[in-house]
Amino acid sequence: MKALTLNQFGGPEQLQIQELAIPSTAPGEVLVRVHAAGVNPVDYKIRKGSVKLLSGKKFPRILGRDIAGVVEQAGKKSVYRAGDKVFAMLPFSGGGYAEFAKVKESHLCHIPEGLTMTEAAAVPLASLTALQAFKKEGGIQSGDRILVNGASGGVGSFAVQIARAMEAYVTGICSSRNTEFVQSLGANQVIDYTAEDFTRLEGRYNKIFDAVAKSSFRKCRKILTKGGVYISTIPNKGLLMYQALNFLRNKKAYPIMVKPSGGDLLVISDFIKNGLVRPCVQRSFPLEEGDKAHELIETERVRGKIVLQIIS
Ligand SMILES: NC(=O)c1ccc[n+]([C@@H]2O[C@H](COP(=O)([O-])OP(=O)(O)OC[C@H]3O[C@@H](n4cnc5c(N)ncnc54)[C@H](OP(=O)(O)O)[C@@H]3O)[C@@H](O)[C@H]2O)c1
Repeated sequence: MKALTLNQFGGPEQLQIQELAIPSTAPGEVLVRVHAAGVNPVDYKIRKGSVKLLSGKKFPRILGRDIAGVVEQAGKKSVYRAGDKVFAMLPFSGGGYAEFAKVKESHLCHIPEGLTMTEAAAVPLASLTALQAFKKEGGIQSGDRILVNGASGGVGSFAVQIARAMEAYVTGICSSRNTEFVQSLGANQVIDYTAEDFTRLEGRYNKIFDAVAKSSFRKCRKILTKGGVYISTIPNKGLLMYQALNFLRNKKAYPIMVKPSGGDLLVISDFIKNGLVRPCVQRSFPLEEGDKAHELIETERVRGKIVLQIIS
């Protein structure tokens, strides 16, 4: 099969098209013919070797944690059949930037009607991060005030929509060039971080989701309500220390580490079916231009998501 592989850590030029064997599946796994693969910041972090402790150092490796495609082969007892349209988030080992990927059945979900393969590939990791973050400390109640920092990015654009789908009042933080985009996602209020520091304003929030990890619990604490929760996508030392002290505090701090889950993806699918959530794809690239996709994701300026197209 054709795959975009990495044979050593380094820049985007290290991504090379290579012929590799189709992965063999174990019981409980499904072989998927991949039509499109989502691109996430974790992909460039693995490529650069910034997260070796988590990623390991085995080569060649195939990056890519999000796939959308068609079931090629499933076990006799599987609920999936050859030809089913499916999407999934893959574990840290990746494998999405290729013509075929093996997926644990428990990580899979049928693609909701009306989504293209490109749109479906944009959904799993980013939306699951937001959904799983919002589950912390009892989840979101109708009428809760939720702040999303980095509301225009991959994770943030889903977070705004998911919190709105859960009937929260949502404040999105983004730069001026993305204000209209974040409004179009349904945010009730938008604050331009280039003009105002949201941590110094009057608002009070039940949950602050720092999707881009550009603020801190220390700064956000004072704008959390009593019992409020701060969640960040980067588990740095300071945050882990605050988390260890949560039992002493009324206001809590958590890092999120997203996990593949077909069950959680089904929740997102229902939101999509009901018109409450939609993926926003800024741009797609053919698999052969994976290096260009990595250059773009590394800028930290993407609006919504970017996707690699394997079958166009
Ligand atoms: N722990 C986990 O499980 C997990 C899961 C998913 C993602 N992550 C991490 O979470 C981070 C975000 O992921 P992502 O996919 O959302 O990234 P992304 O799509 O690349 O984020 C890009 C967006 O961030 C905005 N942004 C950049 N600097 C900002 C700032 N100072 N304040 C507010 N917004 C800012 C940009 O808007 P402007 O250009 O307008 O600034 C852009 O729209 C990454 O570091 C990723 O690795 C962690």
